[in-house]
Amino acid sequence: MEHSNYITSANDKPLFTPGPLTTSRTVKQAMLRDLGSRDVAFVNLVKDVRQRVLAICGVAAPDYECVIIQGSGTFSVEAVISSAVPAAGKLLAISNGAYGQRIIQIAKVHKIDATPLVYPEDGKPTAADVEAALLQDAALTHVALVHSETTTGMINPIDEIGAVVKRHKRRLIVDAMSSLGGMPIDPEKTGIDFLVSSANKCIEGVPGFGLIIASRAALMECDQRARSLSLDVFGQWKALEANGQFRFTPPTHALLAFHQALDELAAEGGVIARAQRYAKNYQTLVSGMRTLGFKEYLQPQDQGHIIVSFKFPEHPRFEFEDFYSRLSEKGFVIYPGKVSNADCFRIGCIGRLFPADFTALLSAIREAKIEMGFEL
Ligand SMILES: Cc1ncc(COP(=O)(O)O)c(C=O)c1O
Repeated sequence: MEHSNYITSANDKPLFTPGPLTTSRTVKQAMLRDLGSRDVAFVNLVKDVRQRVLAICGVAAPDYECVIIQGSGTFSVEAVISSAVPAAGKLLAISNGAYGQRIIQIAKVHKIDATPLVYPEDGKPTAADVEAALLQDAALTHVALVHSETTTGMINPIDEIGAVVKRHKRRLIVDAMSSLGGMPIDPEKTGIDFLVSSANKCIEGVPGFGLIIASRAALMECDQRARSLSLDVFGQWKALEANGQFRFTPPTHALLAFHQALDELAAEGGVIARAQRYAKNYQTLVSGMRTLGFKEYLQPQDQGHIIVSFKFPEHPRFEFEDFYSRLSEKGFVIYPGKVSNADCFRIGCIGRLFPADFTALLSAIREAKIEMGFEL
């Protein structure tokens, strides 16, 4: 059976986290080069990467454009919010978790007029609420939300919300950080004007840059709108189009790794096949954890196959730090929770991990339970 140990570094622990994620050995090996940022080989690689990212979403230039922004995923979310919403514009910022809250925070920092539409972390945004907000306030020009809210693992209904946003002729921004590559997303059908993701999530590259897939019409509106020099989406695109080069030092090694990661995504069978692997990882994890007595934070119908939040067991002998350390000593890295009103820990199903890795993790969890003495 396929197992990540054959293809990742022998000494590293698999990361059952939302990122940085476990990557294949060949993705890491692709970085063993020093390419000049003005070199034709690098310029061609960037061009190819941008085209292939669009192809993952079933779109292409000139209707859509891919812009790469250096930094972690937040840099790209901030770039889009601060480049897209005009000075006289207004943002409807939907939130049901920490990453939705981050969008609200970005708007605040940039003094962008924003109306937060906030749900509890186990609540799902609805198209009806979005429609009501848009009908109530004609000043709203943009709507932003997270697709896979990594705080909990909830998948938000972007198709339904997208349909409402398009009907009301507003621009739609979707943070698909933890879903692009691991779930099919169709920006054209959903009506997404700006889709944001990262190199080191479901496409399984290494951290270092974010990806923006923008409809050309929405991107053209961003000319002269940016509130920052380095996070100017239009400026970055213009430079990439002019001579294929970045305005400022590009993450050459991360791009080499990403190019290899795109080859590996294609070799696996594309997004559908990858989504199937992640779904199998998720099913292996959840059925095993239920058998061990753990309970998920979300209802199964709200839960995606990207990451799962589990409630802390109500047992006096359960202590998360101890649990985490024991698993780490056994060679497995899990992740603390991020839900604000419930004690949880998280286990990610993405990255270069296979069902056999989850079976091994479940055995380690069973052992840790016995050692700590909490029966559920
Ligand atoms: C949905 C979502 N948005 C934004 C981010 C922020 O990305 P980064 O930590 O790379 O800045 C994350 C990170 O996990 C995320 O899951």
